[in-house]
Amino acid sequence: MTGKIEKVGVIGAGQMGSGIAHVAALAGYQVKLYDLSAERIEGGIATISGNLARQVSSGKLEDKERQDTLARIGPATTMEGLADMDLVIEAATEDETVKRKIFSQLCPVLNPEALLATNTSSISITRLAAQTDRAERFIGIHFMNPVPVMKLVELVRGIATEDQTFEMARHFVEALGKTITVAEDFPAFIVNRILLPMINEAIYTLYEGVGTVEAIDTAMKLGANHPMGPLQLADFIGLDTCLSIMQVLHEGLADSKYRPCPLLVKYVEAGWLGRKTGRGFYDYRGETPVPTR
Ligand SMILES: NC(=O)c1ccc[n+]([C@@H]2O[C@H](COP(=O)([O-])OP(=O)(O)OC[C@H]3O[C@@H](n4cnc5c(N)ncnc54)[C@H](O)[C@@H]3O)[C@@H](O)[C@H]2O)c1
Repeated sequence: MTGKIEKVGVIGAGQMGSGIAHVAALAGYQVKLYDLSAERIEGGIATISGNLARQVSSGKLEDKERQDTLARIGPATTMEGLADMDLVIEAATEDETVKRKIFSQLCPVLNPEALLATNTSSISITRLAAQTDRAERFIGIHFMNPVPVMKLVELVRGIATEDQTFEMARHFVEALGKTITVAEDFPAFIVNRILLPMINEAIYTLYEGVGTVEAIDTAMKLGANHPMGPLQLADFIGLDTCLSIMQVLHEGLADSKYRPCPLLVKYVEAGWLGRKTGRGFYDYRGETPVPTR
């Protein structure tokens, strides 16, 4: 291993993948973005372009930096397009079957020396690593949403992760200007182990009629000084992702206190996944968000 990361591949051009590509390119890395279709990749790049433009108009970035950053991001329309990357970060849908399939397609073509990371919110790093051909060079790099704004990154070693892999990942994350916290490989790590049961409880509070969407969010904003209400935050994370994390906690820790709220399941079954689909606990299709309950 050369120990140097210059080229970074990102798999999944959704909320997180586009954010990761954004911060990596801004820090000077050459980035390739992969998703299931050219349209999704273009959508991800358009999101990055819009967010960079916002950073310029708010005075956080020079226009030249915006242009240079965009020029460092290119599409990979096949897995082969990621073959010569030094680091690939998987940020696809929070579903173990999806992630396994990605690793089975990627590993045979990816440079054997390259590091492989996952941005999973909850799934075992050790178990994902075991699906690859490089458990020693596999690590969890868990960014927070929205990636360009949030300062924290959790680093999670699998049982086989080598020290050199950890150090290279740490160096990469620090080069992005983020602060690292190290979590052990247990379901949902630190942030989501604490955050998601709180969100799930807020959904139970709604389900049981203790309060409306507005009452619950106002209560937690003004009563607990949270910057946004738990239901608004759930919409922001994505309700499918919230449900997947609760399922991983429930199964992985075998404790009924992590049972996903049936109302969360219902919203996901309806395809009301939050901001990304235009509707969740709030309806975002008009000028201002309107509570759906
Ligand atoms: N949303 C959050 O707040 C948050 C925070 C931290 C980590 N994460 C994690 O990041 C990952 C992505 O979450 P997101 O919020 O960006 O979801 P998202 O739904 O916005 O994006 C997921 C993307 O993955 C793509 N995808 C699905 N199957 C694929 C495949 N086989 N190959 C390539 N791309 C594929 C989808 O087309 C989509 O563009 C998940 O593991 C999630 O747990 C999410």
